[in-house]
Amino acid sequence: MNEKAIRRSLVSHAPLRRKPANMLRRMLDWLPEDTELYGDDAPTARLEHRLAELLGKPRALFFPSGTMAQQTVLRIHAERTGRRAFVAHPLNHLDLWEERGYAAVHGLRFVAAGERHSLLTLDDLEAVGERPAALLIELPQRELGGLLPTWDDLVAQVGWARAQGAAAHLDGARIWEAQPYYDRPHAEIAGLFDTVYVSLYKGLEGIRGAVLAGPADVIAEAETWRRRLGGAIPDAWPLAVAGLIGLDTMVDRQAAFRDHAVAVAAALTADGVASVRPDPPLTPMFHVHLPVSPAAAGQASEDMITERGVQLFLRAQTDPLPDRCKFEVSIGENGMHFTPDEVAALVRELVTRAEKDG
Ligand SMILES: Cc1ncc(COP(=O)(O)O)c(C=O)c1O
Repeated sequence: MNEKAIRRSLVSHAPLRRKPANMLRRMLDWLPEDTELYGDDAPTARLEHRLAELLGKPRALFFPSGTMAQQTVLRIHAERTGRRAFVAHPLNHLDLWEERGYAAVHGLRFVAAGERHSLLTLDDLEAVGERPAALLIELPQRELGGLLPTWDDLVAQVGWARAQGAAAHLDGARIWEAQPYYDRPHAEIAGLFDTVYVSLYKGLEGIRGAVLAGPADVIAEAETWRRRLGGAIPDAWPLAVAGLIGLDTMVDRQAAFRDHAVAVAAALTADGVASVRPDPPLTPMFHVHLPVSPAAAGQASEDMITERGVQLFLRAQTDPLPDRCKFEVSIGENGMHFTPDEVAALVRELVTRAEKDG
């Protein structure tokens, strides 16, 4: 991708890659000159305390990535229960995007419950034929365009885990994006679960990094594993500062981002060139399905970046029909600079280009 040519982007996260000066300036403004970078008052410790409080957990711990945090906590749940399996939706991040590190590194086994293109249900869980170490639930479900179960369904599913003697773990990478839908405090959502991971760079628009929260004894074990896995990096403070700025500035804006996502999705639906899932979106995130192949959409996107400096997405994915594709929209600070009609016109242009060249 021609990163340099991008002048405007609908893609929300990793702003450091696109606007490093803005991010660095914000970090400098935020950091008082005499800030201690190590110790109990350092940005990393402050971030951990703040998130423990916000999520209503006794302790929280920084990790360089959600990948490391979640594999670690599932291993701990496995060792405590003496079971090796965790149950999750077929399209969970660990199985799809992490080279199955849970098995390769930690000797865990993934048991898929439910349908690939629907939300997990209690019936799906009741059909699971074994007692797992943990149930992992992702809120919102990224691969389903940010779908969310109702609160009652969520409570029932966590209840199933408890009845099995299993831990309930929340992949809360996007808990910030999910919270306005439930309209309950973050601590109440996280409170359903034994352990929760949150991301510092998606809705919070930080640099990278993750935080794992839960009971003090579980987090103490996670700290040992973090060292074993090479994640105990003493100079995590730039990631922590960016995360703290995200907590100050992004959490309260998620409802506005969701409203804008609903408006953008409505404009796309009205235009008719693409379809939107879910319609209406439940979070700032949704999927746009296009009547062109991933390769044709990818090429059209590259051409639009080169010729117009506008980026609509990072990746066009299979739909799964070969002559269709989809891309993810996640409205954040970047997305607010595009009007709904403008996005619809850009998507129409992309499809027209892809049909011509594809
Ligand atoms: C739902 C979900 N879980 C976990 C992760 C892993 O986070 P990280 O990139 O910090 O390893 C991601 C990253 O995209 C994600 O979307």
